[in-house]
Amino acid sequence: MTESPQTPKAPSHPRRIFSGMQPTGSLHLGNYLGALRYFVSLQEGEGERIYCVVDLHAITMRQEPGAVRAATRHVAAAYLAAGIDPARSILFNQSQVSEHAELAWIFNCVARIGWMNRMTQFKDKAGKDREAASVGLYVYPTLMAADILAYKATHVPVGEDQKQHLELTRDVATKFNLDFNAPDFFPLPEPIIPAEAARIMSLRDGKKKMSKSDPSDYSRINLADDADAIAQKIRKATTDPAPLPETVEELKDRPEADNLVAIYAAIAETEKEAVLREFAGQGFGAFKPKLAELAVERFGKISAEMRRYEADPAEIDRILSAGADRARALTAPVLDQVYDVLGFVRGRARPF
Ligand code: AMP
Ligand code: TRP
Repeated sequence: MTESPQTPKAPSHPRRIFSGMQPTGSLHLGNYLGALRYFVSLQEGEGERIYCVVDLHAITMRQEPGAVRAATRHVAAAYLAAGIDPARSILFNQSQVSEHAELAWIFNCVARIGWMNRMTQFKDKAGKDREAASVGLYVYPTLMAADILAYKATHVPVGEDQKQHLELTRDVATKFNLDFNAPDFFPLPEPIIPAEAARIMSLRDGKKKMSKSDPSDYSRINLADDADAIAQKIRKATTDPAPLPETVEELKDRPEADNLVAIYAAIAETEKEAVLREFAGQGFGAFKPKLAELAVERFGKISAEMRRYEADPAEIDRILSAGADRARALTAPVLDQVYDVLGFVRGRARPF
């Protein structure tokens, strides 16, 4: 795990960790290896931790209301099953804490259209017909900046695909602090991006990211998959006929082979070099069963725990709503301060 070296620490802001995941489908191995496992390990260190199911982000694409609700519980169950402890971390869903949306509007007035036009995720998600994309999808990154900065969070564990959004968050914080003559009001949050497995690719196409929204279920290993499904998906993963090479350089033009080796390395908590030392010269007929065994061993327990949590949605809702109360206690004073800075008065507590 690396923290970007070029950023000086902002000592005036206490260490606070924030991250989020969208409830738009099944959580998969990429989400776990690229992000979720760090959310869990960061519970051992210093600093408050706030983990969010970002349901307001989910509706930037058309969703059935019932499906968002179910997916919100699913993501919460994955957080819990992976080891997020609601006693040590604040766990909640975004729509219950209205300050996220409130601050996002203010940031829409700080961020520039030119910044949004550079966002690659918008281009990917909007597809060919950009005119038909929602305005929400276009300004998605300002909502993400609001998620983070409503807590004055200093650290954000994410996969590599979110790096550009984190840079935009820092730009928003910088411009707000400058425009309103409020030096150091918002911290400049740092991404925490894993060195290995920052980008897990589809099992069907090594050039495409493993994604919740891929129509083919065989493209990903879901955290909820049982042992048989995991083994079968690995067995069917696209590969080439050559044996595994001696060096990582030789994987360069073999994206599918590279991806399976990277997955093995990430699960075994080692490096690709070490995996090749063990398997060089062997074909996928030998490598895939070993990878399946390792994946089942690591994820079998998480998927069983997920099913246990998902069987009790009332308990999940209770955890999310208790988390939302704690989250609001942090965001409300920050929004009060933001309103002060802007020359507004927030709410009815004080006379205008
Ligand atoms: P999302 O599924 O877009 O809500 O992503 C939730 C988190 O998982 C973010 O931190 C992403 O960067 C991370 N993530 C999503 N897909 C992958 C992937 N294929 N490889 C690594 N990390 C990923
Ligand atoms: N945009 C992130 C994704 O698609 C999810 C997200 C929303 C997020 N708000 C965030 C991640 C705040 C980290 C911090 O994966």
